[in-house]
Amino acid sequence: MVRGILSDSPEATEKKWMQAVAARAFNARPDLNIAIGDIISVEPSEQNPLENLSIGEIGVCYEAVKALQDSGVRRQDGQYFTPDDAARFMAEQSLTFPPGRWVDPCCGVGNLAWHLTEMQSNPEEFVKNQLVLNDKDKVALKTAVVLLGAQFLALSDQDGMREMMRSATADDFLDSGKTLEGDYVIVNPPYGRTEERGGFDTAKTKENFSYFMEKITKQFGGFISVTPASYVSAPKFKTLRQLIDRHNAGGDVYVFDNVPDTLFRGYKFGSSNTSKTNFVRAAITVTDPSRADWRITPIVRWKSKSRTIMFREVGNLLSKRMIGPDGSWAKIPPGFESVWEALMKEGVILQDLLVKGTTEYSLNVALTPRYYISATFRDLERRSKKVLYFANEEDRDRAAIVLNSSLPYIWWRALDGGVTLPLRVLLSTPIPSRVDASDEIIEWLRVDEEESLVTKLNAGIVNENVKRPQGLVDMLNQIAIPHAREFVDFFYSDDVLTDHS
Ligand SMILES: C[S@@+](CC[C@H](N)C(=O)[O-])C[C@H]1O[C@@H](n2cnc3c(N)ncnc32)[C@H](O)[C@@H]1O
Repeated sequence: MVRGILSDSPEATEKKWMQAVAARAFNARPDLNIAIGDIISVEPSEQNPLENLSIGEIGVCYEAVKALQDSGVRRQDGQYFTPDDAARFMAEQSLTFPPGRWVDPCCGVGNLAWHLTEMQSNPEEFVKNQLVLNDKDKVALKTAVVLLGAQFLALSDQDGMREMMRSATADDFLDSGKTLEGDYVIVNPPYGRTEERGGFDTAKTKENFSYFMEKITKQFGGFISVTPASYVSAPKFKTLRQLIDRHNAGGDVYVFDNVPDTLFRGYKFGSSNTSKTNFVRAAITVTDPSRADWRITPIVRWKSKSRTIMFREVGNLLSKRMIGPDGSWAKIPPGFESVWEALMKEGVILQDLLVKGTTEYSLNVALTPRYYISATFRDLERRSKKVLYFANEEDRDRAAIVLNSSLPYIWWRALDGGVTLPLRVLLSTPIPSRVDASDEIIEWLRVDEEESLVTKLNAGIVNENVKRPQGLVDMLNQIAIPHAREFVDFFYSDDVLTDHS
């Protein structure tokens, strides 16, 4: 299908795409043919290559056509089209919003608007009068108007189709001179890195999606967005979080991991990297104006076979949004709130125990956690690690107890959870006051680090780490973080939702 549309020049490809859209719309809605013809202004193709495709699949085709035409454009724009199930999940969140007019900026071929419209009690009325489409890409915008009109408008409502086109805009949504009239927004903005853009409080992030979230949260009464999850806890998004808090009394944040399954299932056309894990960790943020409290999920992991269950059950993983160091939002499992509060009240963090320069009291910590974090007395031969130096034996041994319990892993998943363990997260790990290091436990840790040494070959280089046995970790948890076991499943398991449903 995609190959049939790709042509020698972008103009020719664009024309063939519009012809394919026209073919689908004319065939489905001959009663709207005049209005469709006015918008598309090309003859329909003889074949109907978009027939029977869902809106999400059409989005993937459009993404492929654009990417194969010019892979640089897609990378720069950072476009990830929302798959149908994720778009439906987002649209469902609108059901509790008070009635109002919705804007879909960056609508692409209209995936989000389509599912939003389908969810309404009167889709005909909604698509004509309650929905505003925007995309700076004129081809995508026209595609969205025609496909949505053809799907939802009443019989022979040619004026309805014209009205949809009139209210749609092909402007840059971020243009400070342009404001779209509406009450709420549903959006999947582009994710690419960009220039520092004047006029934005979040300019320093240099992240496109952050500018969109800023403008949306300031100008609209509520929104449903899918964006990178990094904004929830990374320090550079502090201003964005503050803005969202200032303009919204409450809402829900769903945070999704990118392994083993990912929220975005698009194809990485134009990219030479085939690794799935390169997909962004996504967050769906919902700021319903009727809400007065904030909730958040832990980073949710699921297998693709549990995807349907995941969307059905993920709401059960929401719990009161807790705050981490420096105002970050902590992604913790339900039931963990009081443990989190207690951790935040601890007076001593790892940083407080460290000294500048080297001493004879050190610990090695690997900085690429996957399913565990540990600390060793011995030197670890590996690329990515942090060597921590302490003033005395007692401080080092207390840190060793904490860093080999589940506490740092839980801390990291709540405050980051990416590929590496950022130093800010490691160094902010609380050292609970009750932690006391007995000689017996320290001796056990020392003996174990020879027995539990694991090695991984990475690009020809051996990387050592120590994977402590569960019995030892359980014993350390009793000292550092009682009840941890009940919660670590949320982080360790690849199939959390199946296990808990
Ligand atoms: C990630 S796609 C999302 C498409 C669709 N809403 C979805 O969820 O699948 C982002 C869209 O934003 C559009 N876009 C990028 N920058 C924009 C801007 N400054 N103003 C308006 N649209 C923009 C792109 O043309 C693209 O269609």
